[in-house]
Amino acid sequence: MSSAAITTVLAFLIFTFTYFLSKLFLHPKQKTINHKKPPGPPSLPIIGNLHILGTLPHRTLQSLSKQYGPIMSLQLGQVPAIVISSSKAAESFVKTHDIVFANRPELVGAQIMSYGCKGLAFSKYDSYWRSVRKLCTSKLLSASKVEMFGPIRKEKLDVLVKSLEKAALEGEVVNVSEAVENVIEDIVYKMVLGRSKYDHIDLKRLVQDVMALIGAFNMADYVPWLGTFDLQGLTRACKRTNKALDEVLEMIISEHEQTTNTDKTRHEDFVDILLTFKHQNIDHGSEQNHVIDRTNIKAILLDMVVASFSTSATTIEWALSELLRHPRVMKNLQDEIQNEVGNKRMVEEKDLKNFNYLDMVVDETLRLHPVSPFLLPRECRENITIDGYFVKEKTRVIVNAFTIARDPNVWSENAEEFCPERFINKKLNYEGQEFESIPFGFGRRRCPGIQLALRTVRLSIAQLVHCFNWKLPYNISPSNLNMDEKFGQSIHRAQHLHAIPSYRLAGDGKLE
Ligand code: HEM
Repeated sequence: MSSAAITTVLAFLIFTFTYFLSKLFLHPKQKTINHKKPPGPPSLPIIGNLHILGTLPHRTLQSLSKQYGPIMSLQLGQVPAIVISSSKAAESFVKTHDIVFANRPELVGAQIMSYGCKGLAFSKYDSYWRSVRKLCTSKLLSASKVEMFGPIRKEKLDVLVKSLEKAALEGEVVNVSEAVENVIEDIVYKMVLGRSKYDHIDLKRLVQDVMALIGAFNMADYVPWLGTFDLQGLTRACKRTNKALDEVLEMIISEHEQTTNTDKTRHEDFVDILLTFKHQNIDHGSEQNHVIDRTNIKAILLDMVVASFSTSATTIEWALSELLRHPRVMKNLQDEIQNEVGNKRMVEEKDLKNFNYLDMVVDETLRLHPVSPFLLPRECRENITIDGYFVKEKTRVIVNAFTIARDPNVWSENAEEFCPERFINKKLNYEGQEFESIPFGFGRRRCPGIQLALRTVRLSIAQLVHCFNWKLPYNISPSNLNMDEKFGQSIHRAQHLHAIPSYRLAGDGKLE
């Protein structure tokens, strides 16, 4: 045997020996160190921990986090998940690893409804998402656009105040939840689609169906092989609703295409703005070519409607409920507004910057009642070790914003109470870098509609409490008002809020 052959054989033997040694001794050890999972409740075969979530999962996970800690493992059917339940844990996930958790999982309903995730909310974290996000934040949701849509908010809120004034005269009990939902729906449809009513189409019903289906618990998202059978009928329902909605969106877009050049008096809406980008590459920063077509436009429009409507309406509903439960806070708020605008006119948007107490009321409402208690679902993009725990690629990340905002270590022992004064020396800016209260999420995927949402929510609350005094009906005392929650696409009141308005502005100079 030549010396070269001997060297080759020796090298091969040494390599094989080292390889087996490392397999035997090193890897198992590394495994035990690096692959430590966060603690969590024991799980069952196939369904994992799905059976323990109950009807109010945010509260179930809140109490489980007391047992298992702020970073907890769960098994949701076949999907491994981690639950983040403290601001400190959320911060350590986001500060250095935001990009790793910036993905959304592929959910069956969202895939069908948003045209294969061509919108913003359910799209994967990739260059398409970055381009669409930039388009939305700069062209639809910028500060100047929030201003531009002011007249729509005014018009729709004036109509609401007028109808409540009539109800007040007649001493009627008003379904406040319904009234608020209607006005926010009208504002959103007008701003996004250009019209809030269609003679022959029940647009509201359709969008409510979309929201219910996207928010529904679909077994196929957790036990994928069940998807083929569609046992709950959700996939079929999603396809039906998407088809019906698609026809409506097509009609709305065509209507806009026909009138854009002829009707100059029409308010510009999101459809008009998006149509100016049709057939254009919206990704100028890289070699990617993301040309916007009708399908992209429909997916983005649908996201805007679904993301903005129930979130804003539900926040207003919770704020009014808390104000009715806390007459002291209601009086402080009414005094603040009245001191600024007097009692002869309605609130105008320009007044809002002077209402510090109103800001505190809204911050406190969003802290106690974050409408998306788990934000939108996130998915881990790669294997990663955080705080000593191994998190596998594709693990579902559930951020329990509800628990985080009620942490007594951060918010003191009265964390469960509604107390706007806690914000006297603490201003939240929701820019994604504060973690104690995260109703709009955090990091790259945080809500892009924050300014629009805060403007609508603040103005609506200010108008409703400035124009009217409110009393609970049926001898319900403030402390007895039912505050039960219902979990769905957002957490809203289990029962509608009812109240009796009485008009409080002086004179008749305010409304025609
Ligand atoms: C009080 C009202 C609102 C609340 C509480 C709220 C809350 C949220 C939350 C928690 C998320 C998920 C963030 C995350 O994963 O970290 C989100 C995402 C989103 N929101 Fe909002 N939102 C509100 C209003 C709006 C409005 C008015 C719009 C736009 C018209 C909007 C558009 C969106 C979109 C498009 C996303 C997806 C962002 C992405 O995945 O990149 N939201 N919102």
